[in-house]
Amino acid sequence: MKEEIFDFSGKTIVLTGGTGGLGRAMAHALAHCKAHVVILSRSEARAREIVKELSELGADILALACDVTRVRDLKSARSKIEKKFGRVDGLVNAAGGNSPGATTSPEKPLWNISAHEVKSVYDLNFVGTVFPCQVFGEMMAQQREGVIVNVSSMSAFRPMTRVAFYSAAKAAVTNFTQWLAVYMAREFSPHIRVNALAPGFFLTEQNRFLLIDKNSGELTVRGRNILAHTPMARFGEPDDLVGAILWLMSPASRFVTGAVIPVDGGFSAYAGV
Ligand SMILES: NC(=O)c1ccc[n+]([C@@H]2O[C@H](COP(=O)([O-])OP(=O)(O)OC[C@H]3O[C@@H](n4cnc5c(N)ncnc54)[C@H](O)[C@@H]3O)[C@@H](O)[C@H]2O)c1
Repeated sequence: MKEEIFDFSGKTIVLTGGTGGLGRAMAHALAHCKAHVVILSRSEARAREIVKELSELGADILALACDVTRVRDLKSARSKIEKKFGRVDGLVNAAGGNSPGATTSPEKPLWNISAHEVKSVYDLNFVGTVFPCQVFGEMMAQQREGVIVNVSSMSAFRPMTRVAFYSAAKAAVTNFTQWLAVYMAREFSPHIRVNALAPGFFLTEQNRFLLIDKNSGELTVRGRNILAHTPMARFGEPDDLVGAILWLMSPASRFVTGAVIPVDGGFSAYAGV
């Protein structure tokens, strides 16, 4: 396969959650391969830090303040991106995460989780994936070309204990990814592809509180159980996603759509015996 298959020169790729643990690594990888990277972030200050880092790679970077659960923010971002780059070739939906308030525990049974917590986890992970797909998917439909990568989770296949709403929302992301892949290919163009990554367990801000005891710094029982169920016996590092995102974004995966790719150290393949 030709080396230039991973050359993204002239391609504009939008990342939601581009300042997060996993999004940042993907943004670096894409900028390194010469993409114009657009970081959508709620925090302008954090986005500015990334712009500085990525600009040092020589990439043309744009950072815009945007809450992925607000269509108005997304449409305003789209106008600015159209003005600067003219088109959007790729979208990575990496904004998402669980919240401690939506997590069951012996002290907090299911029925004590507030409606607000249920809705906010669902909105961030599912609605916050659907809205960017609508806003930037419309551009791809007009262009008859584009690539979308959503971020699902191991908890979409079989729900993880304690994180019911996060798991349900990620299952919805997987289902919507498959639906959108079919819709885009059949209604608009076979050159619009939609896939998802299903990361295993990576130590980032959203799950540190579940995996590492904040007082002792030791693994929690859950953290130990996860490692025991991961054949590679370690947590993922953000750079472990780089190969998969470059592959899914590039023509190297040109016949792949509607797929959900586990990047999990073997977690989903292991029966535990
Ligand atoms: N870390 C893991 O082990 C793991 C495993 C499976 C899936 N995932 C998924 O990967 C994605 C990235 O997770 P991460 O580990 O980098 O988490 P993270 O918390 O480090 O990053 C999440 C990013 O989303 C942004 N964000 C949150 N709410 C937003 C909103 N309303 N609008 C715009 N941006 C918003 C945050 O500011 C942050 O930049 C998430 O969808 C997460 O659910 C993570």
